[in-house]
Amino acid sequence: MVNILKKFKPEKKELIHILHSVQEAQGYISPEAISEISKYLNTSEGEVYGVLTFYNAFTLEPKGKHTITVCMGTACHVRGAASVLDEFSRRLNILPGRTTEDKYFTLETVNCVGACALGPIAITDGHYHGHVSTRDVKKIIDDVSKEEGKKKKE
Ligand code: FES
Repeated sequence: MVNILKKFKPEKKELIHILHSVQEAQGYISPEAISEISKYLNTSEGEVYGVLTFYNAFTLEPKGKHTITVCMGTACHVRGAASVLDEFSRRLNILPGRTTEDKYFTLETVNCVGACALGPIAITDGHYHGHVSTRDVKKIIDDVSKEEGKKKKE
């Protein structure tokens, strides 16, 4: 952590850059990191939290092995993205933004990925699924699990 901080001047305008570096190195922004960053920049932890929660790019808990992202942009939303997200949430038993207890899946949302004509869109580990309906959700989750099974056998 100290090595990351040393790369930046102790100025508040560096906060976003520091947060990006910490997330890249650690996969998330831990409470300890928030405390160290606030001391380094001579600001309050509340201010760091404020910036963190304003931007979707940061996560406050370690991510699961697999990330499922549902687009909630307008075009996907009008085609039923909210129901798709609810179905992922129900089947994984987690709210959006959270990770399953076994650290296997993280469920996230995004606002438009530039493929509106294919909406609703779900993305699993960078793989795009178009025209997703609630009926597809189980298969998408199962496919990620099967893929993982194959990798383990190899
Ligand atoms: S709104 Fe979902 S891809 Fe644009």
